[in-house]
Amino acid sequence: MSYRFAGRMGRIPESFLDELFRVSGAPGVITFAGGLPASAYIDVAGIREAACEVFDEMGSKALQYTTTDGYLPLREFIADRYRQRLGLPARPEEIQIVNGSQQCLDLVAKIFLDPGDAVGMERPGYLGAIEAFSLYEPVFHAVPLEEDGPDLAAFASLVRDYAPKFFYGIPNSQNPSGRTYSQDKRRGIAEILDGTDTVFYEDDAFGELFFDGRPRLPVKRYLPEQTVMTGSFSKIVAPGMRIGWIYAPEPILQEFNVAKQAADLHSNFLSQVILHRYLVTHDLDAHVRRVAAVYGERCRLVCDLLDDLMPPGMTHTTPEGGMFMTATLPDGLSSMEVFYEGIKEGVAVLPGVPFYVDGGGEDTIRLNFSAACEEEIVEGMHRLARVVRRLE
Ligand SMILES: Cc1ncc(COP(=O)(O)O)c(C=O)c1O
Repeated sequence: MSYRFAGRMGRIPESFLDELFRVSGAPGVITFAGGLPASAYIDVAGIREAACEVFDEMGSKALQYTTTDGYLPLREFIADRYRQRLGLPARPEEIQIVNGSQQCLDLVAKIFLDPGDAVGMERPGYLGAIEAFSLYEPVFHAVPLEEDGPDLAAFASLVRDYAPKFFYGIPNSQNPSGRTYSQDKRRGIAEILDGTDTVFYEDDAFGELFFDGRPRLPVKRYLPEQTVMTGSFSKIVAPGMRIGWIYAPEPILQEFNVAKQAADLHSNFLSQVILHRYLVTHDLDAHVRRVAAVYGERCRLVCDLLDDLMPPGMTHTTPEGGMFMTATLPDGLSSMEVFYEGIKEGVAVLPGVPFYVDGGGEDTIRLNFSAACEEEIVEGMHRLARVVRRLE
């Protein structure tokens, strides 16, 4: 028989990522291609302790169905943290727990987008968002991401000429570039959007992971009623728990709640209660400081090795936090070629092409610096340098 899949499935950009990740997972390959937090810094003992306490004290209650919006004490914890860290007047009613912040990408697109609607993105933009939004068949408009955030002239033209339903951005340590918006750009974005019907979708997956530990004020601070903010425990506690959240104005949250209930009733309740117990019995700030310090050291090491080992034509971004950076290859080199030659040499990088909704990026690679330890970084960068120099 022929399976008659919906037309939208054919309109998703073809993903060669499965193939890339399969190849880069081969034994002996040092990978900078993925996006895993450092396994050694997941607090297994602490989470085990919290899980035991939950089973002892809550018993079957922890294994029951719950409400769609999520465990209230966890939402209170998140709201408190917003107030303390960022001075945002967050209330638990404005927060809903989701199955990893990736679910917000799907559900926000589901409640806002009809086929053909305009969506704004950074160029390059987060691949997981491009994939999630594509299922709702929007027309993407990409705004170049400069050193300090989106090109504001291009951003203003986009908002004026195409009135996108929302603009999706990652102001803190963007994926894939590692760039962080300046405060001026954040204010500028808010000024341009104020008075329009375009929502700012502020994905804050990495806001806790600045190497200097200093929080940056979010766009939501300048444009509270028009900004949807999302966050995640994946990078600061454990991604396998699949707990993230959305912090949004109530009218948006009501629609979001309907879509979330239809999709999965609620996020894993056991994960929510264990995570909450962990958060209130352990020092999250100290843990996050430790993780950010390690990522900072690894990032500096990758930057230094890129500077020392690669040919002069190769450049890279210099992140202030997060887990990723982008390198631009010397003239004429193709990232796909570097990928396949890299695998033969025992090192994997991620070609930049899938991060560009409108083509381009053939000469860029994304490098993750959180997963590999220091010895692996040193060896992996030497292997990459051999590949780049050979192909040059
Ligand atoms: C920018 C960004 N947003 C969202 C996610 C989704 O993360 P999670 O669903 O684990 O919260 C990721 C994952 O790497 C990401 O890089």
